[in-house]
Amino acid sequence: MSFRILGTGMYVPEKVVTNDDLSAIVDTNDEWITQRVGVKQRHISVNETAADMATAAAKQALAAANVSAEELDLILVASISSETTSPATACLVQRNIGATCMAFDISAACAGFLFALENAAMYFAAGKAKKILVIGAERMSRLVNWKERSTCVIFGDGAGAAVLGEGSAFADSVFTVTGNDEVICVPNYMGESPFWQAEPTQPFVAMQGQETFKFAVKSMVRDVNTLLERNGLTLDDIACIVPHQANSRIIELASRKLGLSLDRFVMNIAEYGNTSAASVAIALNEAVRSGRIKQGDRVILCAFGGGLSSAAILLNWE
Ligand code: UT7
Repeated sequence: MSFRILGTGMYVPEKVVTNDDLSAIVDTNDEWITQRVGVKQRHISVNETAADMATAAAKQALAAANVSAEELDLILVASISSETTSPATACLVQRNIGATCMAFDISAACAGFLFALENAAMYFAAGKAKKILVIGAERMSRLVNWKERSTCVIFGDGAGAAVLGEGSAFADSVFTVTGNDEVICVPNYMGESPFWQAEPTQPFVAMQGQETFKFAVKSMVRDVNTLLERNGLTLDDIACIVPHQANSRIIELASRKLGLSLDRFVMNIAEYGNTSAASVAIALNEAVRSGRIKQGDRVILCAFGGGLSSAAILLNWE
């Protein structure tokens, strides 16, 4: 037994920050951000925590799935930016929606939503769950250095959610982890221990942009091809790819290398920026709600990021 997606939801903060708004904070401009990243605006929290956004997305997904909070057997939240290490954001969502099931967080940066789906698949396979709520929720505005133009222009805040039920949509998956803290690193606050001797690190996103870019394109192309080959499929069999929205140029290059036209990729980076673990969940929600993904479609979700991790999942939409 695996799962199918019964309903999806999302939440983004009301506050929109445009590229022009950012040019008043750091030395940047709309032309650079649009051409090099593809972002025109991002939604930024003014008082919503990651748990608040996760809760709002969860409520929408539960309503779409026609599933009540009491029916849930498990809540998984993928996040690297939540305000509390403990309780897990999933525990706060559990309380906020009135569920009583097990709940825990998964930390796998931008690929986190796919890691959470993979974990959910194991619970279905083991017969341990009939309904699972999976969420990607990030307040990346908490983790970027707002004085550092190469990172603060990229990220946005938001949450996306999916309610899973028994089914056979989840067809195959591929996950790759190459432990590395040099290409992308988000250190935690180092604490105030009087005994700690090493240099404290800044608790902000640090990223080697070009290394990440190359890693992203390579892993997307490799992971999509792996899923196709393993399942005896060609790109013609895939209705659309829902990729992590990190940089429109990454998606464009992957599209060229794969030989799949850009219009087969779901893209919303211009409106939301890179929302890390929420990105694929938000893009999936929009594709489902707009009718772009329909019953019988084969869909590939793919993501990459800190870890370094990459992931792709093949869904036969039911
Ligand atoms: O979700 C996690 C995974 N993350 C990613 O996939 C991100 C992958 N990487 C990227 O998307 C790109 O590498 C960035 C968007 C981060 C950077 O774009 P880039 O084309 O690789 O630029 P760069 O870092 O090579 O910088 C080129 C120039 C530099 O100036 P000089 O040295 O050539 O004079 C930067 O200082 O662009 C400058 N620059 C900016 N200029 C205006 C960097 N950031 C900005 C900015 N506005 N915001």
